[in-house]
Amino acid sequence: MIALGSDHAGYALKQDIIKHLDETHTEYKDYGTFDESSCDYPDFAQKACEAVTGGECELGILVCGTGVGMSMAANKIKGIRAACCSDYFSAKFTREHNDANILCLGGRVVGAGLAIELVDVFLNTPFSNGANHLRRIEKIKSLESK
Ligand code: RB5
Repeated sequence: MIALGSDHAGYALKQDIIKHLDETHTEYKDYGTFDESSCDYPDFAQKACEAVTGGECELGILVCGTGVGMSMAANKIKGIRAACCSDYFSAKFTREHNDANILCLGGRVVGAGLAIELVDVFLNTPFSNGANHLRRIEKIKSLESK
């Protein structure tokens, strides 16, 4: 199950992503927002991220205007490793090396075609499980309690 969230600026791109997830029979839960009225992205980052940390969803996708605000908010939540990506290489290697569990996209940055490529590679790339990467992720986790 994939957790989705957006603010008003990410709503249209989230709808494109939803269409793609429907077409590829990928299960998701949309934690809002549900229209283009102005709203605050941290509220939706929190809802979608808590679905991931709570185990209801394995991965999440958050969309705001830049993807940056969503990633800042998401990375404040214990257990979340959110990556704001607008290129294919980063979306792939943030799964392989960082075991990122949230992909953040900018609805005012990337078009739907690129966004869907980023979503697909993010959702389909496993964590490498390499010892070096595990050690570094443990160090990220230790920063959460400082
Ligand atoms: C909303 O105007 C915009 O600031 C927001 O979507 C996001 O880009 C923040 O990082």
